[in-house]
Amino acid sequence: MITSKDIRKKYIDFFVSKKHTQIPSASLIPENDPTVLFTTAGMQPLVPYLMGETHPAGKRICNIQKCIRTGDIDAVGDNWHLSFFEMMGHWSIGDYFKKEAIEMSFEFATSKNYLKIPIERLSVTCFLGDENAPKDLESAKIWENCGMLKNRIHFLPKEDNWWGPAGLTGPCGPDTEIFYHVKDISEKNTLEFEEYNKTGIFCEIGNDVLMQYNKNSKGIYEIAKQKNIDNGTGLERLTAVLNGYNNVYEIDNIKPILKKVLELSGMENKEQFELNENHRKSVRIITDHLRATVMILGDDKAVSPSNVDQGYILRRFIRRSIRHAKLLGIQKNFCKLVAEVVVNEMGSVYGEVEKNKDFIFNELEKEEEKFSTTLENGLKILEKKLEFLEKAKIKELNAKGAFDLFQSYGFPLEMTVEICKEKNFSVDVIGFEKLLKEHQELSRKGAEQKFKGGLADESFATTKLHTCAHLTLSALKEIVDQSIEQKGANITAQRLRFDFNLDRKLSLEEIKKIEDWVNNAISQDSEVSMQILSLKDAKKIGAHGTFTSKYGENVKVYTIKGKDGVIYSKEICGGPHIENTQNIGHYKIIKEESSSAGVRRIKAILE
Ligand code: ALA
Repeated sequence: MITSKDIRKKYIDFFVSKKHTQIPSASLIPENDPTVLFTTAGMQPLVPYLMGETHPAGKRICNIQKCIRTGDIDAVGDNWHLSFFEMMGHWSIGDYFKKEAIEMSFEFATSKNYLKIPIERLSVTCFLGDENAPKDLESAKIWENCGMLKNRIHFLPKEDNWWGPAGLTGPCGPDTEIFYHVKDISEKNTLEFEEYNKTGIFCEIGNDVLMQYNKNSKGIYEIAKQKNIDNGTGLERLTAVLNGYNNVYEIDNIKPILKKVLELSGMENKEQFELNENHRKSVRIITDHLRATVMILGDDKAVSPSNVDQGYILRRFIRRSIRHAKLLGIQKNFCKLVAEVVVNEMGSVYGEVEKNKDFIFNELEKEEEKFSTTLENGLKILEKKLEFLEKAKIKELNAKGAFDLFQSYGFPLEMTVEICKEKNFSVDVIGFEKLLKEHQELSRKGAEQKFKGGLADESFATTKLHTCAHLTLSALKEIVDQSIEQKGANITAQRLRFDFNLDRKLSLEEIKKIEDWVNNAISQDSEVSMQILSLKDAKKIGAHGTFTSKYGENVKVYTIKGKDGVIYSKEICGGPHIENTQNIGHYKIIKEESSSAGVRRIKAILE
């Protein structure tokens, strides 16, 4: 068996031997970056250096970074996704580039002193090319010269082989990824790469981002001043595949946590593969979520469960674990028992986890106590509601139902959605958000008016104009230029102010066409619907979005669809929006002016 500890050491030893300096893991809670909740990649704390600042440790750096990704939270329970994981990484900060990076990755993977992976087990992918950057034949050639089998080098498009920026703007570029064949498929021609990848026969074990672009605030990929290499290598996945496991839960520092969960559910003599699918999923979710919880609580930033930001994610992890524990028949007060095993496994690697263990256990006990007492009652209420709806042949839980569960029983919205989905019901998520907003408004009545998402308040008049802002963006793209993006918005009950990139005045004819386009969309009694998607999926379905800074997080996508079946807008946004454009009035642009260099401003009203 090769342990995670062995692999940590091999990785660091190898890159130190290649003149990299090891630096410690940064905190899970990003410093000075309000746009992301958690550190999602090793490069994130290094952005200033990747942009040209001098790093005190030099131009070659390596480390093992604590990371949290919640964008794939629904995938947790499968073989490979983890909410908390450790990313081994190394960087060239304006030093070596493609050739050396690929040669080092190949050597580390195949050398008999390091991972000793037989070449037949490896595949690599390179960037296919698009309007931003050419096909990466150069990387492919370097892999081939290293000894990679020719039919194991694949070219994939941007959604697979491009990384970054981590926030709205910043360093990014095409990447080249290494995959390990979990099953021996040496007989097959791996041109069926995508097919195998989907079935989980390939596991990505490393990514070299060839950072040579900088996405600027206009959304343009400009050639960066400095070329960097950003490598990420997932410790847990690598440990799993090198031991021949087909999932991450079998590795040395996760298995004891899983075993504890099995023991608490009275299945101590069972292995994962002996469980039915539902049980296996619940056991894995608890293992993953409480491991992530301990790492967040154990961070020196001392985040506690709450209803906002990192605290809300933490609360979701804990409450979802408690619910799945209930499905397995685990009795109360189990969180601490699982957490003790996590501290045992991770405390020697991350001293802060050992140091903060009393805080971890206290917070967990408090949260478990708070939630366990209401969970049972809440579940009963929900069951009754769903029975009633079933009889009435209604397949959606209304906003009030979901809001009651949130308010009176502490059910995070996502948990209600998950339970309803298991029973084939949907939830009125938009309505829920509205009720939540109203509630928050009431509870801060008298407090200073706050501007949020460009909205002065959340009255119907303002919300209508917010929906019109989405239509304005679509109209500008359709009529003037597809590359137009929103640069800002400020909306009051009286008018919409909308800023966008364009280096000239709009003509009167264009203004008229934009008004007509928006009014046509309004006249189609267009429905506004919302779905929660990972950023990747949101992009896949073509959602517009300037505010995609929360890398790794789920996003809300609002779709405006007319009764003629035309989709007038699909945009990433925090809301709120009206439900339907029926009778909202006539859209009129009352002003078009310059706002700043390269940015125009429209003012519009509904009459
Ligand atoms: N930043 C790159 C990733 O997360 C290495 O895959």
